[in-house]
Amino acid sequence: MGNLCLGSPTQRLQRLLFHRPIPDLTGKVIIVTGANTGIGKETARVLLAHGAKVYIAARNQAASEEAIRQLKQETGNEAIFLKLDLSDLKASRRLLKSS
Ligand SMILES: NC(=O)c1ccc[n+]([C@@H]2O[C@H](COP(=O)([O-])OP(=O)(O)OC[C@H]3O[C@@H](n4cnc5c(N)ncnc54)[C@H](OP(=O)(O)O)[C@@H]3O)[C@@H](O)[C@H]2O)c1
Repeated sequence: MGNLCLGSPTQRLQRLLFHRPIPDLTGKVIIVTGANTGIGKETARVLLAHGAKVYIAARNQAASEEAIRQLKQETGNEAIFLKLDLSDLKASRRLLKSS
């Protein structure tokens, strides 16, 4: 009795953190590192689906282009490949300053 099905404090915190609606991201520019696979690619998918301009920053151009093709099919929006090797700190800094 008296339980309005709001869940435990942990469940409420999870809802607050993870179930917030994603707003329209039109006009936002977002660089996602490692976005040709795994978590990065899933992140890019959600951002593209909400209208963001997404750069896929990775080393492997062929894998990135394939990911861009798949993501465009799924979201209707095209990401942009940004060649980036994060183990080369000087080159990474130069690239990001020029972007
Ligand atoms: N905390 C957790 O529970 C948890 C769970 C899962 C994953 N993770 C972490 O999340 C990250 C992503 O994991 P994942 O499984 O989704 O994918 P992953 O296979 O670990 O990530 C590969 C991606 O990272 C890029 N990458 C690797 N080295 C790079 C470098 N030097 N410069 C630029 N890009 C580089 C790859 O690009 P290229 O193809 O161009 O090499 C590829 O896009 C990892 O760090 C993983 O340890 C954490």
